[in-house]
Amino acid sequence: MRYDFDQVCSRQDTNCVKWDAVKSIFGSEDVIPMWVADMDFPAARPIVEALEKRAGHEFYGYTQPGPGLIGAVVDRLQRKFDWKIEPEWVVFTPGVIPAINVAIRALTRPGDEVILQEPVYYPFFPSVKLSGCQVTTNALRLNHGRYEMDFTDLESKFLPRAGMRESPGRVRAIVLCNPQNPIGRLWNREELTRLGEIVIRNGATVISDEIHCEILYKGYRHSPFAAISEEFARNCIVCMAPSKTFNLAGLAASSIIIPDKKLRDRFNETRSGVMPGQNIFGLVAMEAAYLYGDEWLEQLLDYLQGNMEFTLRYCARNIPQIKVTRPQGTYLLWLDCRRLGLDDMALRSFMREKARVGLDDGFLFGKGGSGFQRMNIACPRVILEEAVCRIEAAVKTL
Ligand SMILES: Cc1ncc(COP(=O)(O)O)c(C=O)c1O
Repeated sequence: MRYDFDQVCSRQDTNCVKWDAVKSIFGSEDVIPMWVADMDFPAARPIVEALEKRAGHEFYGYTQPGPGLIGAVVDRLQRKFDWKIEPEWVVFTPGVIPAINVAIRALTRPGDEVILQEPVYYPFFPSVKLSGCQVTTNALRLNHGRYEMDFTDLESKFLPRAGMRESPGRVRAIVLCNPQNPIGRLWNREELTRLGEIVIRNGATVISDEIHCEILYKGYRHSPFAAISEEFARNCIVCMAPSKTFNLAGLAASSIIIPDKKLRDRFNETRSGVMPGQNIFGLVAMEAAYLYGDEWLEQLLDYLQGNMEFTLRYCARNIPQIKVTRPQGTYLLWLDCRRLGLDDMALRSFMREKARVGLDDGFLFGKGGSGFQRMNIACPRVILEEAVCRIEAAVKTL
């Protein structure tokens, strides 16, 4: 079946966060929302049909993941990433951020440190802090337009630090983001190996958020962190979900892969009584997506590639003051607006009020985000064209 990603579909008046909260977030209805990470495309037909069929069975009681779904997850990881997992490693949760919160609580005691590689998806910060831990920053380095991990700095986080006699052994975990939101880097095997060796040698665990791992541009291939070696598998919690790939965020369904039994038991004990069980529709949609969603996904990835190339070309030609980092994955573009010469609050007002586009402020993503904006390009091309034209016109007034 051919999907038409050019078709503009209204999402207004459905209580959707992206469109129906525009006025309350950005101060005007006349703002194109390009912030929260979901897509303005209808879901794949087989997913919609599976949901309709399940809704027609009028019983919505407590539900557990069935063997069909577990098999679909196992097969998909093997097929897509050559990663062989055991069915019992999979833990289903209603979302990745709730799973990261549980993972941090399972791995730490209050006062411990958790490393974040900023700029990074901003809900990671409260996940660490609300678990009673401190954020330790291992900032990414921007080297001639390319982001890199700073391994020397990462090593140093495990050494005694001035004024912190207790620091060795207090760093219990790192939350890795691969592909990294907001910068769009896909970490390669060599980088993951270096990171894993440092973290594991120092007795900490890797929580690897791989939610964007199936939104990749041509030529890129994802390596799940745990697939690198048995030792890595024993020391990590991998978070995956169909929510970004198949645009199912409102169905709150994710699969967390925890190969080590002790770690898995600790995770399950920590979630018990706190995290709700499974949402029927989330499980149904996940299974349909993984089994029958690839035709839609292939066409989506082509369309996103086109959107990404269009935006890069347009900005290079018409708005050279804004430099767009070429992403390897994710439908999020990271715009370097530093040459506009605006401070963070002025840049926010400029985008909202002058350009009338609703982006995410770079500073929200932590260190290194100041002067940047994050733009969600998962929308029909005409909307994207209108957005970049608005930005161009606004830049001309500066
Ligand atoms: C890196 C990353 N992790 C997690 C999430 C949210 O996951 P969930 O809605 O399953 O909590 C997002 C959403 O944008 C994300 O970009």
